[in-house]
Amino acid sequence: MSDSLIQKYNIPGPRYTSYPTVPFWDDKPCADDPSRIGISLNDWKKTMITAFNESNDQEGISLYIHLPFCENLCTFCGCHKRITKRHDVEEPYVKTVLKEWDLYCDLLPSRPKIKELHLGGGTPTFFSPQHLRELIEGILKRADKFPGFEFSFEAHPNHTNREHLQTLFDVGFRRNSFGVQDYDLKVQKTINRVQPFENVKEVTEASREIGYTSVSHDLVFGLPFQTRESIIDTIEKTKSLKPDRIAFYSYAHVPWIKGVGQRGYDENDLPKEVEKRVLYETGKKLLSDLGYFEIGMDHFALKSDTLYKAVEDKTLHRNFMGYAAGKTKLMIGLGMSSISDSWYSFAQNVKTVEEYQELVNKGEIPIFRGHLLTQEDLIIREHILNIMCHFETSWIEDRLKFPELKECLERLKEMEADGLVVITENGLNVPENARPFVRNICMAFDLRLIRNKPATRIFSMTI
Ligand SMILES: C[S@@+](CC[C@H](N)C(=O)[O-])C[C@H]1O[C@@H](n2cnc3c(N)ncnc32)[C@H](O)[C@@H]1O
Ligand code: SF4
Repeated sequence: MSDSLIQKYNIPGPRYTSYPTVPFWDDKPCADDPSRIGISLNDWKKTMITAFNESNDQEGISLYIHLPFCENLCTFCGCHKRITKRHDVEEPYVKTVLKEWDLYCDLLPSRPKIKELHLGGGTPTFFSPQHLRELIEGILKRADKFPGFEFSFEAHPNHTNREHLQTLFDVGFRRNSFGVQDYDLKVQKTINRVQPFENVKEVTEASREIGYTSVSHDLVFGLPFQTRESIIDTIEKTKSLKPDRIAFYSYAHVPWIKGVGQRGYDENDLPKEVEKRVLYETGKKLLSDLGYFEIGMDHFALKSDTLYKAVEDKTLHRNFMGYAAGKTKLMIGLGMSSISDSWYSFAQNVKTVEEYQELVNKGEIPIFRGHLLTQEDLIIREHILNIMCHFETSWIEDRLKFPELKECLERLKEMEADGLVVITENGLNVPENARPFVRNICMAFDLRLIRNKPATRIFSMTI
């Protein structure tokens, strides 16, 4: 793709881990539940139970557990985390998550069957192996594993030991992902995350020895002081460990979001648009040469990995954690700031550890905001998921038509002329070389974004 196209289409835009995207959820307090925004507790419970009844026996449900603590702040990080070296926070947090799970299980009409369970963060391996075991055993006291279940966790190589890996394996985990980001020392120092290759090697090899079937590494392009050479070196080192999956994220620079701590460097230290694209293209080429296939946006997988199979079978799904090999209709998010998805609605937990613990200990499901999807939202969501997961969508079925479809296609005319999308009578597809522009294509369908143009910057750049 030419530099001028990159400059033309590099605009702020959502990453579409949900539709509607979080900034466009209903923002009004609920009439019958004024302490909550966009969704009342009753509506959340009702839609959650509907999704449960429609899916538990057929496909199982998903659980996401947010474990927010990290010992050190990496200054590039955009995740919801709490920095502390005090490990006495672990026990009350685990107890609260289990209490929250009890609140859900008490509402459900039958015993949940868990198809996917993901521990995200923060740094899940901040917690001791013993506390992680208590957490998972506590969850499984009130649930069964659905056939073909997949349990996965995120881990920081500097804070993960063999006991963590063995304990999580023993309770059913077979997939993990390690944050690597970049191996260059100058980049690592700038983002306050010095992490020797040896540490990554140790946890990757130990995972394999223990029996994990999918090990993933997170790399990021667009970090301060990254160069083409540092990307080449990072991928060379990654190659020697041959992870099954690689997340190759575009650095999201969002310093305006309070408290994320993106400091210690400024815009001048970041690779500019075209340079950043070169970093991506360089990485992508090297990864393809090594046998990795690009899966949707940001992800690469070896042919042997379930994510690649999901592409072949067209079962790839996208949710708040990124890409998943399959879809469950209900994902319950436990822990501070977690987002739950019932397909018909979203709900988010309160964002501080203190508020979270206070509400759950009072016996309340700790959601503070959410969104009930309208009929239009459900249709647009399907198109956006199709484009993000399969690089194509279709409106040949009447249920996927909507009144503004013609205007959406009008908005795509210029992108069509620029070769970024191919529009046919009943659908569209994104050519392989236009995949970096997939967020721009989804934006043409994003009726909530179009109707409520944000007054300030709320999204990272699309490319
Ligand atoms: C919760 S962290 C992973 C686990 C562990 N805390 C660690 O750092 O190794 C999830 C991943 O999100 C990615 N990430 C965090 N902040 C980001 C940003 N601003 N832009 C792009 N990716 C980011 C990083 O690749 C990171 O490994
Ligand atoms: S990158 Fe990981 S370890 Fe670093 S602050 Fe973010 S969540 Fe914590």
